[in-house]
Amino acid sequence: MEIKGFGVEEWLNKNEKAAQFDISQSTISSLTLGELLSFDSQDPTATFTKYLNTKLNYGWIEGSPEFKKLVAQLYDQVDSQNILQTNGATGGNFLALFSLLNPGDHIISLYPSYQQLYDLPKSLGVKVDEWDLKESLNWQPDLAQLRQLISPKTKMICLNNAQNPTGSLLNKALLEQVVLLARKVGAYVLADEVYQPVDKIDEFPDIADLYEKGISVNSLSKTYSVPGLRIGWIATQSKELADIFRKYRDYTMISGGVVNDTLACMTLRNRKAILQRNGKLVQRNHKILEQWVKNQPKVEIIMPEQVSTACVKLNIQMHDEEFCEELLQKTGVLIVPGSRFDMPGHARIGYCTDTETLKIGLKKLGDFLNQCE
Ligand SMILES: Cc1ncc(COP(=O)(O)O)c(C=O)c1O
Repeated sequence: MEIKGFGVEEWLNKNEKAAQFDISQSTISSLTLGELLSFDSQDPTATFTKYLNTKLNYGWIEGSPEFKKLVAQLYDQVDSQNILQTNGATGGNFLALFSLLNPGDHIISLYPSYQQLYDLPKSLGVKVDEWDLKESLNWQPDLAQLRQLISPKTKMICLNNAQNPTGSLLNKALLEQVVLLARKVGAYVLADEVYQPVDKIDEFPDIADLYEKGISVNSLSKTYSVPGLRIGWIATQSKELADIFRKYRDYTMISGGVVNDTLACMTLRNRKAILQRNGKLVQRNHKILEQWVKNQPKVEIIMPEQVSTACVKLNIQMHDEEFCEELLQKTGVLIVPGSRFDMPGHARIGYCTDTETLKIGLKKLGDFLNQCE
């Protein structure tokens, strides 16, 4: 099985530990274990001690009943039996693609977006058509193009909502149109929803709520600030679909592990408080980014929703990859070259790091840009 290297992952794996000012990441500033425990109890040490008797067996295979119940509460139409815990959203995407697609199938993927959603299916022998996100449409796709691409042979439409790296959001009205088109041909709609905007999360249009063949993938890695737990999930209205995922899941993952499940439940139980903390951070940093761009003649931006990634256009002669490499070497600032997302001439800024790092990182990035032609 041939597969293309994962552009953004390869860039981060190589460079993130060398960065002094990391403004490349897509998580809202990660919580420490102590911070998470403090959300859950006034005496985190006692909570920690309580868990010392936890047996490190496999735990609940599909995720604990508490986990499944807490996740099901995030949806209107999904029963907890149709929630399966996965190894992050990456694990959820993989499970959906691996379970449902066969060589020769046709799918349509939002593009550019998360590379897993088009290059993994290609590696499985699937024909992938790209549904373009257009900068001229404020990083929205054009429904007319989807109408042209879709056919009775289309098995799945893959979306990333909100979208990495632009931070743009597909709204409910657009998703309803996508569902109408998909329903006509019986196609699944898979949506990777890890970047739900922190200020609109309660009214977010989850695809699993909107469509009987919708598959929502999500995780605790971005909006919930605990990527290190490696806990995500796959959610669907359909018991039949969930059973297909169960079957394939047994070959790829046994469980998420008792410790991670326990901490995942803690995160979900304290969801409101964590979202409050994150809402403040995103709002503050969003303003700083917006202000910074206003004073930068060599940078343009379509501001992201209140999600943790942003995509800037670089008006310089240097290639974006070379620019980002030099930036890191000379200033210690890490961002992601747009070419890693098939978006040359652009760069991803992960602006939801701690505010001090963002301020220093942007200042150094601005000074460096000023020296470029
Ligand atoms: C769209 C998207 N989905 C999934 C992931 C990975 O999520 P997880 O850590 O839950 O596997 C990323 C991380 O960059 C992402 O951008």
